[in-house]
Amino acid sequence: MIDRKPVIVVIGSLNMDIVIEADRQPQMGETILGNKITFLPGGKGANQAVALARLGARTVMIGAVGNDAFGQQMIASLDREGVDTSGIKIVDGEVTGLASILLAQGDNCIVCIPGANAHCTPEDVERNLSIIEAADMILLQMEIPLDTIRYTITTAKRLGKRVILNPAPATPLPADLLEQVDYLTPNFSELQILLETNEGNVTELIKQMQVRKVDHIIVTQGDEGATFVGQDGLVGRVSSHKVNVVDTTGAGDAFNAGLAFSIAMNESLKDAVFFANATAAQAVTKYGAQNGMPNIEDVKKLLSEL
Ligand code: RIB
Repeated sequence: MIDRKPVIVVIGSLNMDIVIEADRQPQMGETILGNKITFLPGGKGANQAVALARLGARTVMIGAVGNDAFGQQMIASLDREGVDTSGIKIVDGEVTGLASILLAQGDNCIVCIPGANAHCTPEDVERNLSIIEAADMILLQMEIPLDTIRYTITTAKRLGKRVILNPAPATPLPADLLEQVDYLTPNFSELQILLETNEGNVTELIKQMQVRKVDHIIVTQGDEGATFVGQDGLVGRVSSHKVNVVDTTGAGDAFNAGLAFSIAMNESLKDAVFFANATAAQAVTKYGAQNGMPNIEDVKKLLSEL
């Protein structure tokens, strides 16, 4: 344990989430009537930053928004949560990232338009080097350019910082990038994409990923919990919590924030995965990605009920 708030830097996306609720998902080529539309601040990076701030981390975000009303709303909502937004750039002539989210039958599907997120560059990371130097942990997702992800990871490793890469949305990654990642956190389908396969169970796929020299692999599996393996090579599992699910959007973001927070507090991998799992469980009991992020008391309460 460390006896101060951990400093965690999130380098990632900010999106305005356009959330549409419908009774079911339409078929390709079909039109259906929906029930409700809501505009909510989102983006995997910003969601993880909000969750970290609520858990009690000193959280700094590096990213980019457009010079538009959504961009201002995104920054204002992070400011309200206590996230340091000094690393967020405003890009002229570009829109803030947008995510079209369909909620139907207890699950969601998402299409993102990167907009300004595509302008989060290695130079932005370099300009904020002092922020990275001060960090206990660096947390990345994949809604910003791969060059920026690569540059951040290389820089973080040169500075001796631990890196979590949440490979969402997934794409196959080069070996030299993967082997610098300390903690890789795909869900099962992302793990399949990373390995370019449709075959194998979670344990088999984790073994294939271990060959690529990632130190710790944590696979989130929705209502089946999570499977993890550390440097000792032992595979562990945690079951999901039985909670009243309202909205699963951002569950993975809550998990990653919980994991980053707990590891930055120097907890063991197993304890960190349990904490992350409880953070995600609390998040899905509320509507909205950022809105649903729990605070530390909520997570501890759920853990104490086990
Ligand atoms: O993980 C959920 C997030 O994915 C949403 O907030 C949306 O913006 C997309 O980035």
